[in-house]
Amino acid sequence: MKVLGIETSCDETAVSVVEDGTNLLSNVIASQAEMHAKFGGIVPEVASRQHLLTIIPTIEEALNQSKCDLSDLDLIAVTNGPGLAGALLVGVNSAKGLAMAGGNIPLIGINHLSGHIYASWLDEEPETMSEFPFLCLVASGGHTDLILMKQHSEFELIARTRDDAAGEAFDKAARILGLKFPGGPEIEKISKLNNKSYPKLPRPLIKGSLDFSFSGLKSSLIRYAEEKKWYPKNNNTIDPEDISEVASAFQEAVVDTLIRNTLKAIEQYNVNALILGGGVTANSLLREKAKLKSPVPVIIPSPKLCTDNGAMIATAGYFEYESLGTNQLHQWDMDAIPNLKLG
Ligand code: KG4
Ligand code: ZN
Repeated sequence: MKVLGIETSCDETAVSVVEDGTNLLSNVIASQAEMHAKFGGIVPEVASRQHLLTIIPTIEEALNQSKCDLSDLDLIAVTNGPGLAGALLVGVNSAKGLAMAGGNIPLIGINHLSGHIYASWLDEEPETMSEFPFLCLVASGGHTDLILMKQHSEFELIARTRDDAAGEAFDKAARILGLKFPGGPEIEKISKLNNKSYPKLPRPLIKGSLDFSFSGLKSSLIRYAEEKKWYPKNNNTIDPEDISEVASAFQEAVVDTLIRNTLKAIEQYNVNALILGGGVTANSLLREKAKLKSPVPVIIPSPKLCTDNGAMIATAGYFEYESLGTNQLHQWDMDAIPNLKLG
């Protein structure tokens, strides 16, 4: 069964063809990161306009690379939320147009977070991926959630962030330190220059809850940068070694916080494995520490499949359709839902 996956919820126009949920036939990603970098973050209007320009060539390229045309597709899966309204609309309407042009190809709307979780099915052995229940940590630019996956398409949200998402915290920290957007990969890169990790930054804890909070950590970083006269931005020269110390301290604090709550959740819920997904889980320190500390096997997609892509949407589409059948299919009135919830 061949599924075309379309993802436009944020700043990547991404389209992929996946066969039977696990066999990647093409994975095309047109990134807008450089376009948004000059603004220090994602500008929603710029994102939706750029999706409009790139969506058709990206679909064509994904079909070409997979040697498929519309008549070969059994299903079209598209992210219909959560995300930026204007950006989501481009994907949803393109998917509807393609489905209609292909002679009523079945159409399914996919929750972006379900997509990040299903990315793991692309790299792993099917036997490992049938041992439900799983605990899933989805950490991205917009979300930091712990989700219990009881079965295919059966999710329960057990914790979320009360303020910033982990990726948002990395992006803001990078801006405070004068680094480029997106901040996560920049912080990771500069942290490698040095691993002194100074000063020790807080690991925010919400008593009696598995929820996350990152805004206090960001405030500590701002205070440190103000003392050093790096922030607000001015003409002072900053020694990259100094930045690398505090960037590394920040990265450790975010990773420790994510791991601490995840381990507590593994203890509370009787799960057979831990699945990581979302852009932040491309971070090598997080990947290493999760594998080192988890008492259950850890499943993490390759870094390229952690950040937004169309393959994860195609895979989620395949398994949701397989498990829930035609009831799960959407009709022509499918809409973009910017605050779509999972479970
Ligand atoms: O999942 P994603 O591609 O898009 C959203 O759904 O938001 O995640 C993007 C986020 C950004 O905040 C980016 O800074 C962060 O993931 N990120 C990382 C790394 N690569 C991307 N954070 C930490 N370390 C990385 N290597
Ligand atoms: Zn994402």
